[in-house]
Amino acid sequence: MVILGIETTCDETGVAVVKDGRSVLSNIISSSVDFHKSYGGVVPEIAAREQVKALIPAIDSALSLSKLDEQDIDAIAVASGPGLVGGLLVGVETAKALALLWNKPLVSVNHLIGHIYANWLTEDASKPAAPAFPLIALIVSGGHTDLILMKEHGKYKWLGGTLDDSAGEAFDKVAKVLGLYYPGGPQIQKLADGVIARDSLKLPRPLLFADSFDFSFSGLKTAVNKIVNGSMLTIKRKKQIASEFQKSVCDVLVNKTFRAAKEFGTRQIVVGGGVAANALLRLQFTASGNQLGIKVCFPRKEFSVDNGAMIASAGFFNFRKAKAIRVNANPGLHFSYRETFG
Ligand code: KG4
Ligand code: ZN
Repeated sequence: MVILGIETTCDETGVAVVKDGRSVLSNIISSSVDFHKSYGGVVPEIAAREQVKALIPAIDSALSLSKLDEQDIDAIAVASGPGLVGGLLVGVETAKALALLWNKPLVSVNHLIGHIYANWLTEDASKPAAPAFPLIALIVSGGHTDLILMKEHGKYKWLGGTLDDSAGEAFDKVAKVLGLYYPGGPQIQKLADGVIARDSLKLPRPLLFADSFDFSFSGLKTAVNKIVNGSMLTIKRKKQIASEFQKSVCDVLVNKTFRAAKEFGTRQIVVGGGVAANALLRLQFTASGNQLGIKVCFPRKEFSVDNGAMIASAGFFNFRKAKAIRVNANPGLHFSYRETFG
């Protein structure tokens, strides 16, 4: 089954063609990130306007790159939420119009579940093994930090999530305090590169030992704010702060995810979302996984960020046709025990 996936929940316009939920035939991502750089976060109105311009050309490019045309597409999958309402409307209404015009089934996909399915994607004809169930999924994006137990395709048990800021948001806010542009994650990673930890600078590890699978990252920004306290920082000091902040977030995410894997007896972890691109996070997860004999899967970098391929994959493995006119943008969509599609 060939699915055209459409993703417009934040500042990206992603369109992809994916076969049988795993083989990526094309993956077009256009981002309005440069317009948001100086604002410290995504400006919803600007993002939606750029998506209006970018979506139809992206659909055209994804089809021609896959060497398929509309007759070869079996279904359309669209991320219907959570996300920014303007962008969601652009993606959902375009997907509905296409489904009606081409007479194809439409699948409505939870964006967060898309981030999990980024781990099923491959461009490799030899197809590495897919993640094995049961598994723990950690979603770490700009808007979310969630731990999920997945026993099979379509069954999601939400174990916990952030009580305040998401991990990505914390990266973005701390970056702003350090005078860096949005998105902060890649810049903090770059700044922290090669820094040797210094004992005098110690940030908290929020909720590390709490008896829950919840997270809290907003206090980290406050802690960094207190250290900075309006002063001009040397580049050395900035690097130390970036390094210790990054370490704190990674320590908490890794520790809690493995605790969930132990508690529910899973031998597989998958990580998804923009923060999954972080090199230290990958390193710490891989080291602990090797030590404990638990397999950890990360998406390739281009599938960590928002993209249409993960939406097509989630649509395939959770296929449920929706009546096109009944699909609506749902900015506040989250998880229920049994996730429903459509
Ligand atoms: O999943 P995503 O592309 O969009 C949302 O669904 O929110 O995630 C964007 C987030 C931003 O907060 C960005 O700072 C963060 O992912 N991010 C990173 C890295 N690359 C992107 N955070 C830490 N390290 C990175 N290398
Ligand atoms: Zn996302």
